[in-house]
Amino acid sequence: MIDPNEYRWPEGFLFGSATAAAQIEGAAHEDGKEDSIWDAYARVPGAVAGGDTPEVAVDHYHRMPEDVRLMQRLGLGSYRFSTSWARVKPGDREVNRKGLDFYSRLVDELLDAGILPWLTLYHWDLPQAVEERGGWANRDTAARFRDYAAAVHDALGDRVTHWTTFNEPLCSSLIGYAGGEHAPGRREPRAALAALHHQHLAHGLATDLLRERGAERIGITLNLTNAVPNDPSDPVDLDAARRLDAIWNRAFLEPLLLAAYPDDFLEDVREHDFESLLRPGDLDTIAAPIDFLGVNHYHDDNVSGHPLPPGTPPGLRPAPRPTSSPFVGSEHLTFPRRGLPVTAMDWEVNPDGMRTLLVRLGREYPNLPPLYVTENGSAYDDVVAEDGAVHDAERVAYLRAHLSAVAEAIDEGADVRGYFVWSLLDNFEWAWGYAKRFGIVRVDYETQERIPKDSALEYAGIIGRVPAGT
Ligand code: FCB
Repeated sequence: MIDPNEYRWPEGFLFGSATAAAQIEGAAHEDGKEDSIWDAYARVPGAVAGGDTPEVAVDHYHRMPEDVRLMQRLGLGSYRFSTSWARVKPGDREVNRKGLDFYSRLVDELLDAGILPWLTLYHWDLPQAVEERGGWANRDTAARFRDYAAAVHDALGDRVTHWTTFNEPLCSSLIGYAGGEHAPGRREPRAALAALHHQHLAHGLATDLLRERGAERIGITLNLTNAVPNDPSDPVDLDAARRLDAIWNRAFLEPLLLAAYPDDFLEDVREHDFESLLRPGDLDTIAAPIDFLGVNHYHDDNVSGHPLPPGTPPGLRPAPRPTSSPFVGSEHLTFPRRGLPVTAMDWEVNPDGMRTLLVRLGREYPNLPPLYVTENGSAYDDVVAEDGAVHDAERVAYLRAHLSAVAEAIDEGADVRGYFVWSLLDNFEWAWGYAKRFGIVRVDYETQERIPKDSALEYAGIIGRVPAGT
């Protein structure tokens, strides 16, 4: 294993950490902000574990300067955050100056601290008012998104250089509109496919707009996986893995990079009349050139095409949540157990999957732009020790092993330019509420006190060895 402390990271390699508006800001109804779909969804009984809501979260809206100072102490080169559409344009109506001012102050604080702002326009929190007009299943939402992007660029475009349109559109289309486990909690396969296409379109429209306005770097973040057949000698499992690869990876990569949906994906979703959603020119819009691809990767997916037999040992049952897209069938998707340890999410710890994925992308897509790992991290049931610290040895090991895998991928030719750990702070983990802690900094949800965990100190030590400059 490459020691991430000793490895000669490429000049300018960016070490950062990531968060998302709905997961940390709180102030869900303050200074003009109105409901996002996550505010509304969290009020549905049983939707979020423990009845938790994003109302207060980790109160970042009020503690932002203190949080930026924390990032500075850790030596972060970049901070990946998202802007909230429902704060910037509540109800998708006129621009909310106070909402934009918050992000403007955040950007100023970051720049003063020497931290590169890495802005994501959409990390799953659609204004509820837009959902009530059909949400992402409505094609018009793509145009609304472009207008929202313009409002954010008007306010921040003089200082923000790195723009990401979407975070993990797979989750905000298929899991939100068909899986039903994320907001808006719909279980409508056709609406989910419409959401997928309309988010692609929105990405293309916003990319064009930002490009015209001279944004320096524009990209998108996808969550990509290695679809591993449960039994590689079984044609049924092989086909299930192919289907998962088609709908989770290639249905996102190929419109963006090759201006086409994969043929096998089109075939798999033919029963939902997907192609009737496509209009002439859409694919050219979607394939607008990008400057980087963000890759989020936590674990591989081990897939079987067979219903799991009754009495299947725990290692082979599907994780309780999130399950999967209905196009594969949750009973056919097994979260991987190859005798490896798992995190508190029941996600397998397999750093070699990270290496494989990063290397494979460059080999499969010759026109691939530079890659950034925009999320990777782990949830564990942390405890505060008697000395007041959080000795999260498992997260330290996870972080080191995954950085090592990134280094190996670079040595094998992958053009990876940066790594953002998920997450800076413990936060609102969507349908899991506050039950899962991903932070390298612990948050006490009663007092809002921040305690850097051992993993934060470890990360700071690794970052400290990187030559300055981005
Ligand atoms: C990703 C999300 C991020 C966080 C991590 C654990 O899918 O983008 O917000 O929830 O998973």
